Amino acid sequence: MSRPYTALIDYHRRTKHHFHRYAAGPGYLDWDTQPEPFRYYQGAPRLPLRRYEADPNAPPAFDALYGEMPSAPVNAKTLADLLFHSFALSAWKSAGGSRWALRCNPSSGNLHPTEVYLLTDAVAGLSQHPALFHYQPYDHSLELRAEHLSCDWAELIAPLPSSAALVGLTSIVWRESWKYGERALRYCLLDLGHALAALAYSAACLGWSVALLPEVAPEKLAQLLGVDRQTGPEAEHPDCLVAVFPEGRVNWPAVADWRLDAAKVQELARHLRPNPPNVLSPSHRPWPILEETAKALHCERIEITPPSGRAILPLPQRPIGARWLIRQRRSVQRMDRVTPIACADFKRLVFRLWQGGLPVAALGREPAVHLGFYLHRVEGLPAGLYLLARSEAGLGLFRQATSRTWRWQKLTIFPEELPFYLLAEGDVRELAKALSCHQDIAADGAFAVSMLAEFEGRLKRSGWEYARLHMEAGALGQLLYLEAEAAGLRGTGIGCFFDDPVHALFGLSDEVLQVLYHFTVGGGLEDPRLERLDAYYL
Ligand SMILES: Cc1cc2nc3c(=O)[nH]c(=O)nc-3n(C[C@H](O)[C@H](O)[C@H](O)COP(=O)(O)O)c2cc1C
Repeated sequence: MSRPYTALIDYHRRTKHHFHRYAAGPGYLDWDTQPEPFRYYQGAPRLPLRRYEADPNAPPAFDALYGEMPSAPVNAKTLADLLFHSFALSAWKSAGGSRWALRCNPSSGNLHPTEVYLLTDAVAGLSQHPALFHYQPYDHSLELRAEHLSCDWAELIAPLPSSAALVGLTSIVWRESWKYGERALRYCLLDLGHALAALAYSAACLGWSVALLPEVAPEKLAQLLGVDRQTGPEAEHPDCLVAVFPEGRVNWPAVADWRLDAAKVQELARHLRPNPPNVLSPSHRPWPILEETAKALHCERIEITPPSGRAILPLPQRPIGARWLIRQRRSVQRMDRVTPIACADFKRLVFRLWQGGLPVAALGREPAVHLGFYLHRVEGLPAGLYLLARSEAGLGLFRQATSRTWRWQKLTIFPEELPFYLLAEGDVRELAKALSCHQDIAADGAFAVSMLAEFEGRLKRSGWEYARLHMEAGALGQLLYLEAEAAGLRGTGIGCFFDDPVHALFGLSDEVLQVLYHFTVGGGLEDPRLERLDAYYL
């Protein structure tokens, strides 16, 4: 077996939570070294971006994002719109004398390891030349990192259309390992998937679409994004580049062919401004396995295959403004134990999970993550354990791998081709809770899910698949968050679950399928002790 494969499998096994033992972590929160949540480049010129009022009635409607939308032109206003509805702050909360910021994109432990960079052609009001910016959510601004005076944007970006912009995503793993120790890399990758999906939804509001690019060579990405000189535990790991297509549809052949010329990247790197990044913590506790495993993810290029997508189910549009919905999304710490999800909303949500369009299509390949459902309160459906196989191949893998005898009953509420099955009927609330590290939210909502990834086979193809599978799970989580909001409910990601007990429940004894993420949706309860403040009240 190849070394990256072995390293990743070892990491995955080693960071499983067990009923009798959690993955290695610090065991307590060292508040003295809590990482600063905002990275900034000291002395870098800052360009404030336009902010937007949240209006629940403003178009486009959330449901319209899944169809064809008119595309907006690229300018300083629309790029500000893109970032305001994907990565900006969306609220502050305060309690007991401390306050913390919340963003449009969720994050495990609200630690936000993902940093965002924007590379564009000249844009009036931002830069007279192609330029690299770091996005600063704290005040919704762009920090100028480099102006590429002599860069021919059309040539750099070809064969993508010259109107395309690039978004670079990096992770500061230390932010997560400060709290979660060795399991931190998994959370960074799930957050990355949420970030990609958050960008996809925001782009869709403008009639734009996004796609992961095949170039993932870390040295090249680090140079392009200007993080190659960062060292030590706070250094950003360059994860990926995402192309933003302002003309609507993704040009998949161009995405698959896209190459980043190393010499050109070196030339661009010469224009990097010298402003150093801020220091996030006074000292750090090392977790050596994280660095070793991040290396095992390294690869030059990933394969892109245009996701086929499936027919759109004609569903009535709900009159809920998409941008407003995105900005008021929130996780909850308690569910009310009573509110069900309406059958129509559940059906729509399952259909979109299966459809493979927005936001998961951005990953540029066929679905590889499937969902085990714990249904507690879904109108018209019996409580129990269900399976949504997001592809025929996935269904085949599950059928082969599971050692349990299931009911395999298809539901008449779904079209015949949609592989959503009742596996076993019964009250699964305690089960969902116990498997989700005993968290009540998994039992007290309308339903919870375990995301089961095609694991062993994908990892054998490329180490980067470990990242991509987590990203797919994170992107599905983002879909669930927003669908929950659109149904008048709340969703919450659950990164803490007992891995092998979940596998045992589904009758999975090998590593063909592995659980990567849990999620819950239901009637959320606000915590009355917390005060909510506007995102940019300061
Ligand atoms: C990958 C991931 C894992 C998470 N795991 C948990 C969890 O196990 N339990 C929980 O209560 N919340 C969990 N959350 C929710 C976060 O705590 C929440 O996103 C964060 O506090 C920010 O709040 P917001 O989602 O309202 O912006 C998770 C979120 C993500 C993205």
